[in-house]
Amino acid sequence: MYNIAVIGCGYMGQTHLEDIYLRDNICIYGVCDLNEERAGLVGKRYQAKHIYTNAEELIRKDEVDIVIIATYPSSHMSLLKTCIRYRKHVICEKPITNTLEEGKEFLRLVQANPHLKILVGHILRHNDTYEKVAKLIRDGEIGKPIIMRMVQNHNTPQFDKYLSLIRETSPIIDCGVHYVDVMRWFTGAEVINVSGVGARTEESVPDDKYNYGLMTVTLSDGSTGFYEAGWSHTIATDNTKEFIGPKGRIKITYQKDRTTHKENGNLIEIFRYPENRTEFINVPYHLKPTGAQLDYLIRMIEENLPANPSIEEVYKSFETVCKADESIRRNMNIE
Ligand SMILES: NC(=O)c1ccc[n+]([C@@H]2O[C@H](COP(=O)([O-])OP(=O)(O)OC[C@H]3O[C@@H](n4cnc5c(N)ncnc54)[C@H](O)[C@@H]3O)[C@@H](O)[C@H]2O)c1
Repeated sequence: MYNIAVIGCGYMGQTHLEDIYLRDNICIYGVCDLNEERAGLVGKRYQAKHIYTNAEELIRKDEVDIVIIATYPSSHMSLLKTCIRYRKHVICEKPITNTLEEGKEFLRLVQANPHLKILVGHILRHNDTYEKVAKLIRDGEIGKPIIMRMVQNHNTPQFDKYLSLIRETSPIIDCGVHYVDVMRWFTGAEVINVSGVGARTEESVPDDKYNYGLMTVTLSDGSTGFYEAGWSHTIATDNTKEFIGPKGRIKITYQKDRTTHKENGNLIEIFRYPENRTEFINVPYHLKPTGAQLDYLIRMIEENLPANPSIEEVYKSFETVCKADESIRRNMNIE
C-alpha cells in the first residue's frame, strides 16, 4: 500500500485523484491546496485522510511515500526540493518550471538523487493511443516521418483560467513540452533548430505575453514539425495530430472530435501510399491516464525501471519550447 499526497487540488490534482482513489494499493493520505475551501472539498470527495494548506507539513510526514505535484510551474521547483529533503518519490506535472535556468536546476536535482523515483507528467507517454502510433511509426508503417503537424487550439469561454496560465507561462511552453516530446519519441531524433511566431488576440492578455503561438522545429533526421497553440474566444478548437511519411500518413482523432462512432474511442487513421488505402484502428478513450502513469512510477520504485520519459528527455523538450518562446518574444518585440 502506498500513501499518496497530492499537492494542488485544481484541475490536474483532481484528475490524478479521480484515476487512483479507488485502487487497492493506494491510500490518499493527504491533499493540500493553498485555497482552504478547495482543499477541504476535494479532500472530502476523494476521502483523503488529512487535509492541508501548507505543502511542507504534508510532505514531511513519515507516512507519505509518493507526492503528486499538481500546482502551477512556478512552484514545482520548491516543492521538488521539499520532496527531496524528505526523501519522497514524486510525480511532478509538466512543464518542470518556467525558466530555462530553473529547468537546468530541476534536471540537476533529479540526476543527483537517483535513490528517489521522480517522474514528470508527460502523460502522452502513458496514453494507449500515442503508444500505438509510436509503435506504428517506429515499425515503419509510413516510412520515416517527414512532417509532424500538431495543433492544440482551445476556444475557451472560461478565459480567466487560461489567463492565469498565460500570466505564468505561455501556450507554447505549457503544452508544447508534450508535443516536442512526441516528435523526439516518434522519430528518435534530436531537435536541431527551432523558431516561432506569436500573437495577442485578446485585450486582456498582458502586453508582455501572448495567447497564440506557432513553433516550428527541424530534427536531426531531416524531419520537420510544428506545434500550434492558441487559447482564445475567437480561435476555433482544433486538435490536429498528423504524421506524414513517404509511405503514407497517420492521423489521430480524439473521441470528442469524431463525428461518428464516438463509442469506439479515439481513432487512428493510417493512409497507405501508393496503395491509396485507409485503415482504421479504434483505441479506448482515456483523456488523461494518470493511473497508468502512477502505475509506472510504482514499477520504477519496485522494479527500478528508468523514468519514461527520462529526465534528460524531459529537459530537452523543455529547452526546445523555451527557445521557441524566446524566438516568439523576440519576433513580437516583447523580450
Ligand atoms: N498533463 C496534462 O495533460 C496537464 C493538463 C493540464 C494541466 N497540467 C499541468 O498541471 C499543473 C496544474 O494545472 P491545473 O490546470 O491543475 O491548475 P489549477 O489552477 O486548476 O490548479 C492548481 C491548484 O494548485 C494550487 N496551488 C498553487 N500553489 C500551491 C502550493 N504551493 N501549495 C498548494 N497548492 C497550491 C492552487 O490553489 C490551485 O488550486 C500545471 O503545471 C499545468 O501545466 C497538465
